Amino acid sequence: MSNSYTIPAQQDETCGDASSEATGLEKTGASHYLKGKVLVVKLGGSTLAHQKMVISDLISLQRLGLRPVLVHGGGPSINAMLEALHIPTHFERGLRVTDEQTLEVVCMVLRGQINEHLVLLAASMGGKAVGLCGTDGNMLHAHIADEHLGFVGEIDMVDPTIVQHLLDQGYLPIIAPLGRGDGCDCLNINADQVAAALAQALSAERLVFLSDVEGIRGADSTCIAELSEADAHRFIEQGVIHGGMIPKVTSSLRALEAVPCVHIVDGSEPHILLHEFDQHRRCGTMVVRNRGEEGPSIPPSANAQ
Ligand SMILES: Nc1ncnc2c1ncn2[C@@H]1O[C@H](COP(=O)(O)OP(=O)(O)OP(=O)(O)O)[C@@H](O)[C@H]1O
Ligand SMILES: [Mg+2]
Repeated sequence: MSNSYTIPAQQDETCGDASSEATGLEKTGASHYLKGKVLVVKLGGSTLAHQKMVISDLISLQRLGLRPVLVHGGGPSINAMLEALHIPTHFERGLRVTDEQTLEVVCMVLRGQINEHLVLLAASMGGKAVGLCGTDGNMLHAHIADEHLGFVGEIDMVDPTIVQHLLDQGYLPIIAPLGRGDGCDCLNINADQVAAALAQALSAERLVFLSDVEGIRGADSTCIAELSEADAHRFIEQGVIHGGMIPKVTSSLRALEAVPCVHIVDGSEPHILLHEFDQHRRCGTMVVRNRGEEGPSIPPSANAQ
């Protein structure tokens, strides 16, 4: 494929046992509880190599009655293309500084390459996916929040109508993180922020970030099972949470206003999205308002074996 230059090669994974894993989930009763509920998944650009497994799991979950929405990033692929074109890359607090030239590359890679590639992959696996970005159907309106960052959008308004229509018709929406600014400006929006804003607007049952780490690491470098709002702010201030983890954590906290369950997990873990709904195999970091206050949203009875 011509875009294989920027899209990471698919890891040699077999997805063959996805349906038996999904059948296992069905047996626990969790799938009955989750029927009709919306799941928003953010697939990090850092985790694109595991795209096949992720899409296979999403298709299995859709067959079990869940309404999944996939938002993807593309950081490393955009970096590779910028490097090939000798355009320098800069980040500030995890956000890409985006001048006009960089914006062109961001749009080309996210929409023209990665999004198209994921839709084709879903189709090849028997899924019914539709690729779109935040400028479609007036889904995402944003403004330039900081002139210094260039064409980086901060979300003002989300209209999820187009996504809801697609879900109603049984499609898997796959969304590239671009939005409309004033006039006909296209803006680059951090994919974590897009996923969180959509999850809120869709009143999703769950928001899952698939990244290249097992979860959020604390000061001692071990993975934190439950991160409270107070700890999150403290860790950001101390630099324990930095770079690309900052927008992930801040948007997780915002999403909690409407989404009962927000997880940050390792996208390379086999069938991590199916295990998400199995209380006994839970992993990664759950972001919560106050420690111990909010538990998982699946009633324990639904997970009884
Ligand atoms: N406290 C922390 N715990 C875990 N990872 C952290 C922490 N602080 C910073 N990070 C960094 O955050 C990175 C994940 O964010 P990053 O933006 O790079 O990936 P992504 O959001 O999954 O992909 P993309 O931005 O391409 O969509 C990790 O690889 C890690 O280096
Ligand atoms: Mg990121």
